[in-house]
Amino acid sequence: MLVVSYVLCFSSFLHPLLANKELHFPIWFKFGAATSSYQIEGSWNVSDKTPSIWDHYTHTQPYRIKDHSNGDVACDSYNQYEKDIEMAEQLGLDFYRFSISWPRLLPEGYRTRISSDGRQYYDNLINGLLDRGIEPMVTLYHSDMPKIFQDLGGWANPEMAQWFADYADVAFSLYGDRVKLWITINEPLVACDSSLKALGVVEPFLAPYLCTKTVLMAHAKAYHNYKDNYKPMYQGKVSIAHVAFYFGAETQDDAELAELYRQYNFGRFMHPIYSKSGGWPATVVELMKNISSVEGFPRSRLPPLTKHEVEFIRGTNDFVGLNYYTSRMVRKAKAGEERQESLGDLPELNAISEPYPNSTAGHPELYSSYPEGLRAFIAWVTKNYGVQDILITENGYTSYKDDLNDFNRITFIEKHLEQILLCIYEDGARIHGYTYWSLMDNFEWLYGYTAKFGLYDVDFSDEGRKRTPRLSAQYYSYVIKSRSIDSNKWKSQMEDTNDNKKPIDDVA
Ligand SMILES: *[C@@H]1O[C@H](CO)[C@@H](O)[C@H](O)[C@H]1NC(C)=O
Ligand SMILES: *[C@@H]1O[C@H](CO)[C@@H](O)[C@H](O)[C@H]1NC(C)=O
Ligand SMILES: *[C@@H]1O[C@H](CO)[C@@H](O)[C@H](O)[C@H]1NC(C)=O
Repeated sequence: MLVVSYVLCFSSFLHPLLANKELHFPIWFKFGAATSSYQIEGSWNVSDKTPSIWDHYTHTQPYRIKDHSNGDVACDSYNQYEKDIEMAEQLGLDFYRFSISWPRLLPEGYRTRISSDGRQYYDNLINGLLDRGIEPMVTLYHSDMPKIFQDLGGWANPEMAQWFADYADVAFSLYGDRVKLWITINEPLVACDSSLKALGVVEPFLAPYLCTKTVLMAHAKAYHNYKDNYKPMYQGKVSIAHVAFYFGAETQDDAELAELYRQYNFGRFMHPIYSKSGGWPATVVELMKNISSVEGFPRSRLPPLTKHEVEFIRGTNDFVGLNYYTSRMVRKAKAGEERQESLGDLPELNAISEPYPNSTAGHPELYSSYPEGLRAFIAWVTKNYGVQDILITENGYTSYKDDLNDFNRITFIEKHLEQILLCIYEDGARIHGYTYWSLMDNFEWLYGYTAKFGLYDVDFSDEGRKRTPRLSAQYYSYVIKSRSIDSNKWKSQMEDTNDNKKPIDDVA
């Protein structure tokens, strides 16, 4: 039970297009929440686990993390996973998306040896979820690469594709009887971004593009293996989770530039998989050829895909996984204007991307809230690749505040779910589910523990890592139970319930 008081301090109005419709999600629509191994597990050095690139990064360059923290303990989920399952059950989740730590399951990175403790941990987690009727959804790679592979160049090394496929095969063979939803790689755009130094792709010219090809090959190898050897037995689904934030044009004159941004950032990873023809998007091939030639490279920095590779990667998805947080507006830089590097920017284009003026600022600013961008992105996917089965694999509100009465987060969730309803009922999109990031506050990469995304607050100064539901947890469980998003209705229900109760704890 949640014991929080609340005040009627926010009001929200639903989109006029939905006004006359049932604000209900179709019965097949599923709700989940997500976490990832490095961000929650802790126990970085227990048993035979070896360091991941994030263990190495946070230990050797702590000053890179906003609060100089690390994931050594994090939410202590390695020891407290039962509490995580309880929270998922309290929320009424249909599914829980978590990731396997590769160096925990395969301490040597290669499939030479499976850790029996690592194997047992994920067995316990999966079985615990299934016991409560919660479907496990497993991400195989969520940034915590075994350190040993970084020494070999990480994703810039084409051999990584096979090492990943070997690891994926181990996971499919151990857990495939119970896990039916698999994400191979989380956010390949981020995994290949050279400005995020932790990820080992540091060389800025070729590494990001070698990485792009390798993650696609890694994903495709895992996909084909599952399809040929596991799907006939288990009937599961495999896909990949893309970063999705909409790049819109600031003015009509910037339309072409914005489309180039979208193709460069998303088409580069999506066109090879989802398009009918496969391979790199034509404008990206041309762009990279132009840039490379101006820079004096004898060949394009974007490695070619052979005919066989194009065919091998094309169609390797059972759905499109999208992680949506924010959108940005693109325009050409004015003369002498200084650019600030931001994810997805290509310095060579001499353009500026900035938050929409009418977005509401979350914190950090990177995540300003612009729900309409989700619908725009889905329309873009549909236009480019035809109607696809879509799963929102992440969406969440971040704040530096850890208040329990998180009205901004509730509005964020409501407004994004509203856009999903518009996509389903107005645009005919096939969206199958929604995953809130995150189940609880956790180690938020470069922001450490300062950025809070959780439906549950975690007290990181408490040895037991006490978890406390926020008001948004109560709202989300209402959404799941009623299959409706109307926060006003939810508020009046809460008032009714509270009128019949004794005074409740005031945590405000
Ligand atoms: C594991 O790491 C912690 C720091 O997070 C350290 O205190 C402890 O001694 C280490 N344990 C082992 C067995 O190395
Ligand atoms: C590439 O360069 C050609 C010739 O300068 C130009 O016409 C074209 O617009 C450029 N394409 C891209 C995508 O930059
Ligand atoms: C937000 O601003 C952009 C750019 O000015 C505009 O295209 C868009 O329609 C606005 N969205 C809303 C919801 O007001």
